[in-house]
Amino acid sequence: MTNQHKHKLGIIILAAGKGTRMRSQLPKVMHKLAGRSMIEHVLAAAAPLGAQKTVMVLAPGMDEVKVAVQEHYPHTEFATQNEQKGTGHAVRCAMNYFNGFDGTILVLYGDTPLIHTATLEGLLTQKDEHQAAIALLGMKPVNPTGYGRLVMVEEPWVEQIVECKDATPEEKRIPWVWGGVMAFDSSFLHTAITQLKPSPVTDEYYLTKLVEMADERHLRGLMVPMAEEEAMGINSREQLARAEAALQQRLRMKAMENGATLVAPETVFFAYDTKLAADVTIHPHVVFGPGVTIEYGTEIKSFSHLEGAHIEKDAVVGPYARLRPGSRLGEGAHVGNFVELKKTTLAKGAKANHLTYLGDTDVGAYANIGAGTITCNYNGLEKFKTVIGEEAFIGSNSALVAPVTVGDGAMVAAGSVITRDVEPDALAVARGQQVNKQGKAKTFKQRKQTNG
Ligand code: UD1
Ligand code: MG
Repeated sequence: MTNQHKHKLGIIILAAGKGTRMRSQLPKVMHKLAGRSMIEHVLAAAAPLGAQKTVMVLAPGMDEVKVAVQEHYPHTEFATQNEQKGTGHAVRCAMNYFNGFDGTILVLYGDTPLIHTATLEGLLTQKDEHQAAIALLGMKPVNPTGYGRLVMVEEPWVEQIVECKDATPEEKRIPWVWGGVMAFDSSFLHTAITQLKPSPVTDEYYLTKLVEMADERHLRGLMVPMAEEEAMGINSREQLARAEAALQQRLRMKAMENGATLVAPETVFFAYDTKLAADVTIHPHVVFGPGVTIEYGTEIKSFSHLEGAHIEKDAVVGPYARLRPGSRLGEGAHVGNFVELKKTTLAKGAKANHLTYLGDTDVGAYANIGAGTITCNYNGLEKFKTVIGEEAFIGSNSALVAPVTVGDGAMVAAGSVITRDVEPDALAVARGQQVNKQGKAKTFKQRKQTNG
């Protein structure tokens, strides 16, 4: 936890916008990037700042946002903006949560999820150092369309922000724009927000108008530059895809910096929390859902999909493996092609190399699961567990009907349907017995030929 700035900090996160351009049933900020909602990315970036208070502004009917946020950020408070009358109006809806609060109030937009903690820290530090009433992050994007332009007679002091919708052609040529993050002295914000007037052009209350109001009072508005990528605002599916691409790029770089080999980085897709140890190798076309940790030296071969899985060192997974939540692989375990695991542990050195489904199963060390083995863990109503002992051997194409236990060192003959427990070191054969009828094939063919 870092909290270097001198003043008390409060945070307001705006997320009440309709997000109509997403054309979605979901609130905009619930859309995911690298397996985590946009709003949780913003909260995660803000969390290390150690704010005394965090207030999120939502529109009525956005309870699913509240539920999702409360799960991981239970101290967040929620304000309701009944009508979406603009970003300034949204901040006003949060202000009664800050009665008596004296410090800095940082306003973040819920649709700007790529912001880094260090950038926010830098903004707060600079604000303190320059004793500015307002500090904001600015950038010079390749395409500034849609962003508020920063009017600066002398950099880095901002006199005014002109919204794109209201800008004259000359103002539109200003290269500097606001990136969607602004910090205020609470004393200024408390009074100014109540005096804010709507734009005569759009009738919206702009938060950005406060910069001009500060300037009129001879208070300083400081611009701190930021990287364009961090300011990516998401208003459409196309921008969502662009942000995903940028985030994946960051996650790939991080994995490689930590010592993993990515044979073709652009084909590997990570979740926000994927953890790879050094000397892990990821072959082309691997996809990670949330909750995967991989230890030293393990190899993930092409076309595998992993989610909620912990893999110890020197294991081999894939090609074409699917590890679902609750998969645990011990040191040196092997999971091969077309093998699916769910809530299943393979202990050290265990192998399931081909065409297998193991669900709700514990497999002991050095056990071998033959091709085509299926654990029948579900009767349509309930799930049951399968336990396979150390060094057990399950012959190909066996069905293990759970609940069932195969003891240590036991063998199951190929093609068996196992419905009863198998004792340690026993051999279970559970299939129709083979009958060989001498000469029968020949007489069958001859009869066909004479009759035909
Ligand atoms: C805003 C800024 C613009 C800046 C850009 C950076 C204003 C007026 N404009 O434009 O200067 O360059 O962000 O990305 O602030 N929201 C509410 N209630 C409302 C309206 C919006 O909660 O009534 C929330 C939205 O959910 C969103 C955020 O505020 O999270 C920003 O709103 P949005 O409409 O996306 O503003 P931009 O047009 O992107
Ligand atoms: Mg926006």
